[in-house]
Amino acid sequence: LKVVVSLDLGPEVMPLLYNQPNLDVVVWPHESASGKEWLLKNIAGADGCIIMLFEKIDAEVFDAAGPNLKVVSTMSVGYDHVDLKELAKRGIKLGNTPDILSDSVADSSVMLALMAGRNTKQATNVVEKGEWPGWGWSPYGLCGPQMSPNSPQDIRTVGFIGFGRIAQATLARMIGFGYTRCVYVARSKDPARAKEIEQTIKARHPTLTTVQRVELDQLARESDVLYILAPGGPETYHIVNETFLKQMKKTAVLVNNARGTLVDSDALAKALKEGWLWGAGVDVVEGEPNVTVDHPLVKEPRCVMIPHIGSATWESRIGMGTIAVQNLLAGLAGIPLVAEVQVSKV
Ligand code: GLV
Ligand code: GLV
Repeated sequence: LKVVVSLDLGPEVMPLLYNQPNLDVVVWPHESASGKEWLLKNIAGADGCIIMLFEKIDAEVFDAAGPNLKVVSTMSVGYDHVDLKELAKRGIKLGNTPDILSDSVADSSVMLALMAGRNTKQATNVVEKGEWPGWGWSPYGLCGPQMSPNSPQDIRTVGFIGFGRIAQATLARMIGFGYTRCVYVARSKDPARAKEIEQTIKARHPTLTTVQRVELDQLARESDVLYILAPGGPETYHIVNETFLKQMKKTAVLVNNARGTLVDSDALAKALKEGWLWGAGVDVVEGEPNVTVDHPLVKEPRCVMIPHIGSATWESRIGMGTIAVQNLLAGLAGIPLVAEVQVSKV
């Protein structure tokens, strides 16, 4: 059997493939992107492949692969880069890597919120540009909103776009900070399902007084910190736009740790400039990785941007690579994948 791996997953993961008998492993021998040309050329006749989130896997790739392709295994939880219709048409299975990255992404989500709220970009700039001696210390210099409640009367609300595993892990951290209200929007519109989730969450977190699925307008109005942790794709495209941002609290912080497509970057830059909200922390941005210092969000002093490293811990990334291999091998063997995207249902 032939498998194609679109970049080298390192000594912790690759042996899991090399140790397999009767497996012809074709791998781009670098840790950076192979480019689509390499994939198109090498995928011919493959039975399975491991791919990355920045690779658009569409009819062109499936046609280049030919009829043997049984399984596509992406080393990511998100799969908006894979054409699910084409996949379903050809009966190809899709594996992804959820759960193993929920804690690392929740950690980086909270990190971004704190960094944005507490002016970290401007503050580290003061030091790095050698300006500290002149700046000295000033009572209100670089102040921002306090990110945890200031008293028992100070009721804080955390909001979520998407309320899956990563959002729920992020909520647990915010409850540790003293947040007592949670509002969210989610893909499922089923009231029974919402009730079930809300009961489970409340039982898990006794200090939480509210956990409630709301409409977008209410989410924008009530959130002190708003986390975007929902899948990309057409359903969530620019869900955060001017209309949404205009309704946010002036002290609110917005975090996007999901996909760039959920946020209208120009609208967010305008919102920050005009003070519709306080700050933003983004790990993902539309058009990445082609983001230069001229990008309107990079220029915003209260927008902290990091280059899609939400799950970048050794634990998560080696775990994701391992699950990607397990999914691939299960797909080749014709048994259920460790984590399978139900292609026909999405
Ligand atoms: C990261 O963005 C992922 O989808 O795993
Ligand atoms: C989606 O899989 C999530 O974890 O939010």
